[in-house]
Amino acid sequence: MMDKITTREKLILRLQEISEKGILDAEYADRSENMHRLFMYPAMMVPATQSAIVQAFSDILPPNTYAIDPFMGSGTSLLSCIEFGFNVFGQDINPFAVLLSKAKTTVYDVSKLRTSLENIRNRILLDNSTTIDITFSSIDKWFTKDAQISFSKIRRAINAEECIDYRNFFWVLMSEAIRVGSNDRTSTFKLHRRSFEELQHRNIDVIQKFLSIAVSGISDYEMFYNKLKKEHNSSELNFRGKAEISWGNSQLKINSKRKFDLLLSSPPYGDNHTTVTYGQTSYLPLQWIPFNDIECPYEYLRTTQEIDRQSLGGKIDNKSLEEKRVALFKKTKHLKDFYLNIPDEEKSKYQKTIAFIADFEECLKNIVEVMQDDAYYIWTIGNRFVGGREIPNAEVLQDLMEYYGINLFFKAERQIFNKKQACKNNHSRTMEKEQILIFHRKE
Ligand SMILES: C[S@@+](CC[C@H](N)C(=O)[O-])C[C@H]1O[C@@H](n2cnc3c(N)ncnc32)[C@H](O)[C@@H]1O
Repeated sequence: MMDKITTREKLILRLQEISEKGILDAEYADRSENMHRLFMYPAMMVPATQSAIVQAFSDILPPNTYAIDPFMGSGTSLLSCIEFGFNVFGQDINPFAVLLSKAKTTVYDVSKLRTSLENIRNRILLDNSTTIDITFSSIDKWFTKDAQISFSKIRRAINAEECIDYRNFFWVLMSEAIRVGSNDRTSTFKLHRRSFEELQHRNIDVIQKFLSIAVSGISDYEMFYNKLKKEHNSSELNFRGKAEISWGNSQLKINSKRKFDLLLSSPPYGDNHTTVTYGQTSYLPLQWIPFNDIECPYEYLRTTQEIDRQSLGGKIDNKSLEEKRVALFKKTKHLKDFYLNIPDEEKSKYQKTIAFIADFEECLKNIVEVMQDDAYYIWTIGNRFVGGREIPNAEVLQDLMEYYGINLFFKAERQIFNKKQACKNNHSRTMEKEQILIFHRKE
């Protein structure tokens, strides 16, 4: 008991120090490393922040620690855990997040990646075919004919690689080329076609774009893993733990039979249909990647909305919502008080919020089941406004965790400088806040 109190106090001191030094805000952190440029996934966590937090736990957790991120997104939190030698398990409902996290956590031989790229480049350059290999509704809206021909060449060239792990890496890089080379605007996560005038002046050589993205992607990968080798004083990557990446809906099940020592995650905030549309952002790349290399039922790829619809809060069943709301209010006083304070005529605006939190609660039930009794839970959760009111996401999370007997022992706020602009300039930043909440069951 004494020992645990001391451990907790030690942790609190370390976390306070990190917070006071402004490390959580990571405003001036070097964002160029860590492979996060492989693909600009929505709402990426800041690697420097996650790593600083994990470091505080690194000598407190057992040597063979298993960490989980049940909403892994592009795998930032997983990489921070890998940095400290932990084994990781990640799950996400978005098949593109699975692909991306696999590419980042797989151990590649960098010289083989370079040879693969050389082979891919040669195949593309020798390919004189004008055949377009895929079709989907509104393909002509999103891609010029030239881009369709070029992406077909890139797709054929990558598909000829024998090893699925290597194909995965290049699918991700092709996806980044699709993100910047399609007719979609890159300024929002929602699919939004560029104007006719803009498209007329646009002249992107997508093959060159892909090749240059691939060259820097391999260098980013090399830089990250070299940094790890250096930090761990090893010429090999044998110091690092296992990485297991799974496609799955955390609301239904966590696809692992393990018990985890650490959770490091950031769930969605309930705006997957409006601003942070993880699924829509992934829709175009997923149309170009051969279905055999994608993990998920085919229906997820059918429409631009489907992944977001299957995600937390994506579907509202009016019949069961009332029942869910009543059950939820028994577990979270903050949500109940928030809802009761809303004038009746405005309550309908908050149906989606209730549906989202009810779905999240179902995930939490599954998550708690796969955690060790003395596991640590590190959640990052953001503020969000609906109808001019701030949803008390952090307080609701705290209520729900306490419902499962897991108590908050550290809380810090961090300023975020527009996550989407993570690698871009400082001019367009918008300030928001996120809460970092750390829980542990034992006193
Ligand atoms: C904020 S992002 C995660 C960021 C991530 N923790 C990181 O470290 O970069 C939230 C993720 O939750 C995923 N998600 C939404 N609903 C889900 C569900 N029911 N099951 C699993 N993942 C889900 C989204 O696809 C998205 O990738």
